[in-house]
Amino acid sequence: MANVSSNTKDRRSFIKLPILILSGAVALITFFAASKFAFFTTKQKKRRFLTPETFDAMRPGEPCFIPQAEAWVVKGENLRDSVALDDRCTHLGCRYKWNPERLIFECPCHGSEFDIQGRVIRGPASRPLPRMSLTESSNQILFTIEQSVEK
Ligand code: FES
Repeated sequence: MANVSSNTKDRRSFIKLPILILSGAVALITFFAASKFAFFTTKQKKRRFLTPETFDAMRPGEPCFIPQAEAWVVKGENLRDSVALDDRCTHLGCRYKWNPERLIFECPCHGSEFDIQGRVIRGPASRPLPRMSLTESSNQILFTIEQSVEK
């Protein structure tokens, strides 16, 4: 009788091990899937800088789109007079474009228009485009968020 009980105990232990390993594997997979969702699905931060060479190549007063920064840069007389505008319309977030014939930014979604400084010319957008100033730091020109300017 002691032999039968010992065999049953051995079989149970033999079954417990794969169940434990399988449970551990499922827990690990679940953890990695959850951590990937939690840590890697957030939007990548915009790289808000450009090289001095790129800046020097821009023509003053002519908006230039910087794809990696997702911004339009309007070069002024110098860096201090230059501004960058976030490329998302303040109405519902569509990407607007520069219209070189009309010299305004136009949003294709609902027709908002902005002047070269990002001020609203025509709605439905009611807020100006988010402005950034440009400052030089260790061989990079950095974009710094400014308060919106409304005149
Ligand atoms: S998102 Fe630009 S006008 Fe609506």
